[in-house]
Amino acid sequence: MPEPLVWLITGTSSGLGRLLTLEALLRGDKVIATARTRSVCKLDELKKAGAAILELEVTAPLEELHALAKKAVAIYGRVDVLVNNAGYFHVAALEEATPQETMEQFNTNIFGGLNMCRAFLPYMRPRRTGTVVWLGSIGGWMCVLLIVRVLDFPADSLPQLPS
Ligand SMILES: NC(=O)c1ccc[n+]([C@@H]2O[C@H](COP(=O)([O-])OP(=O)(O)OC[C@H]3O[C@@H](n4cnc5c(N)ncnc54)[C@H](OP(=O)(O)O)[C@@H]3O)[C@@H](O)[C@H]2O)c1
Repeated sequence: MPEPLVWLITGTSSGLGRLLTLEALLRGDKVIATARTRSVCKLDELKKAGAAILELEVTAPLEELHALAKKAVAIYGRVDVLVNNAGYFHVAALEEATPQETMEQFNTNIFGGLNMCRAFLPYMRPRRTGTVVWLGSIGGWMCVLLIVRVLDFPADSLPQLPS
C-alpha cells in the first residue's frame, strides 16, 4: 500500500481549502491545515478530523515563511503536496479598485504563493519529488471579454482568445 501523502494547504478556514483538507483526510492522507491568526479558531472541525494546525499568513515576510516551512516539515517529516489555496476575488471594476487594493490582492494571490514555493521547494528538491498546486480563476483568461462588455467595443475589433 502506498505511503499516505502529506499535504500543506493554505487558507483552510473556509471554502475549497477546508473541503480539500477534509477530502484528503478521508482518503487517509495527512494534512497540515493552515489559516491566519484571526481565522485559526475556525479550524476546530479540521483538527477533530485529524489535521495538524498551523497559523499562516501567506503575505508574511519570507523569513517567517521559511520558519513555518521548517516547523511544518518537522510534523510528519516531509511535505509532499503544497496547495496554494489562500486567495480572494476583489470585486471591482479596474478604475474603482485602488492601487493599494490591487497590490494587496496580488500580494496574497500571487506573491504569497511564490514565497510559499520559495519556502517549501528547498525541502522537495533534495527528495526529487513534490507537488505544488495553485488555485486560480478562469477570470484571468476572460478579462478581454469583460473589457469588451464594459467599454462596448465592437467584439471583432479585439484579438480573438485561443479556444
Ligand atoms: N470558489 C470559486 O469559485 C473560485 C473560483 C476561482 C478561483 N478560486 C480560488 O480558489 C481559492 C479558494 O477560494 P474559495 O472560494 O474557497 O475562497 P474562500 O472560501 O474565501 O477561502 C479563501 C481562504 O483564503 C484565506 N486567505 C485569504 N487571504 C489570506 C492570507 N493573506 N493569508 C492566508 N490565508 C488567506 C481565507 O482566510 P480568512 O478566513 O482569514 O479570510 C480563506 O481561508 C482562492 O485562491 C480563490 O481565488 C475560487
